[in-house]
Amino acid sequence: MAWWTNDRFGMFIHWGIYSMAARHEWVKHNEHMTNEEYQKYFDFFDPDQFDPTAWAKQAKAAGMKYAVLTTKHHDGFCLFDSKYTDYKATNTPAHRDLVREYVNAFRAQGLKIGFYYSLLDWHHPDYTMDDAHPLVQMDTSQANYDRLNKGRDMRKYRQYLRDQITELLTNYGKIDILWLDWTWGKGDKRGKHAEDWGAVELLKLIRKLQPGIIVDNRLGLDDYADGGDFETPEQVSPTQLAPYRGKTWETCQTFSGSWGYYRDENSWKNDHQLLDLLITSVANGGNLILNVGPTARGEFDYRAKNALDSLSLWMHANSRSIYNCTYAPEEFKVPEGTRLTYDKSTRRLYVHLMEYPGTHTLVLPGYKDKIRYVQFLHDASEIKSKVDGADVTLLLPERKPNVEIPVIELMLK
Ligand code: GLC
Repeated sequence: MAWWTNDRFGMFIHWGIYSMAARHEWVKHNEHMTNEEYQKYFDFFDPDQFDPTAWAKQAKAAGMKYAVLTTKHHDGFCLFDSKYTDYKATNTPAHRDLVREYVNAFRAQGLKIGFYYSLLDWHHPDYTMDDAHPLVQMDTSQANYDRLNKGRDMRKYRQYLRDQITELLTNYGKIDILWLDWTWGKGDKRGKHAEDWGAVELLKLIRKLQPGIIVDNRLGLDDYADGGDFETPEQVSPTQLAPYRGKTWETCQTFSGSWGYYRDENSWKNDHQLLDLLITSVANGGNLILNVGPTARGEFDYRAKNALDSLSLWMHANSRSIYNCTYAPEEFKVPEGTRLTYDKSTRRLYVHLMEYPGTHTLVLPGYKDKIRYVQFLHDASEIKSKVDGADVTLLLPERKPNVEIPVIELMLK
């Protein structure tokens, strides 16, 4: 896990034919669509502006070190050229293996490669009903459920899973992360459970095919010793991250609310909120994977681009407080209105000014005799201080530096 916990920051990419509907990657479920009704997105999927090198450069500029792309989402559509289905990008007007192009481009930019793969499949004829399946939504009665389940055989679907995972982990070189999604409803007949996926065997297969790979925890194997490498708190607020301290985890978050491209959604997080997520993740010893939902033409939309540009600016100046960092040792109290991160290898402590103090001073409680030198991180400009009893008071400039969240770097004794 070492590279992953050092890198701290990744890009999630949710892209598929649902990007055409442009109203959530669950649109097939939300609008109770049949395969026939959903087919138009397959027939017209033509990402003529898809340029994965541009994606990779934007990710890298924003300071992201790894990426995870949806190779198949719940709708069952495959962005890769699988031997085991016709429901794939090569048979749409895109006519190519989009996963291969992603892998080549991101690898060339030096990013680590991850695959998201949906365990759910709302297109496969052998995938049985559950309470998330689009076809169940219009009539949840047992009679309808049984009727829809007729002739479906999960054993065949399990084999399909194994075959596709084998393709993904064999045909694209070294894969660093596998993000399997998801398992739910323990003890509930209308959920999907570890046994439905043959999860134990599947995980063994994954580890055999790619011994170095990191796998998320959504296979439903919480009670199994080797059941997943990291926890995945989804769309939680920064204040909900503290309980994860000491575990290995990555919070997955969207720029807005939806993972897939959603044209009419207006709840985009601002720069401060995005940075808060990144900083607070590291301040609690975790990673952040931030999602873009490219358009069906294959581009990040302007809101995502603007957000990534702001992250680039901040990371250019302050990434030292993120990479290789974790929460501060307990002896360092968190000063009012700040978050702390700490780099053990350099013995530097980073104080993030979430709100710029109106007093132009910052009290570091009990920090006397612990500090050798203090500066702003973005420009290495000295910050003067005075000692008050056991505390150190930093004397900050009256004007907030031109950085969304300024960072103070303390060289510790
Ligand atoms: C959820 C959703 C899914 C999304 C995922 C990302 O499980 O079902 O649409 O891909 O979270 O974490």
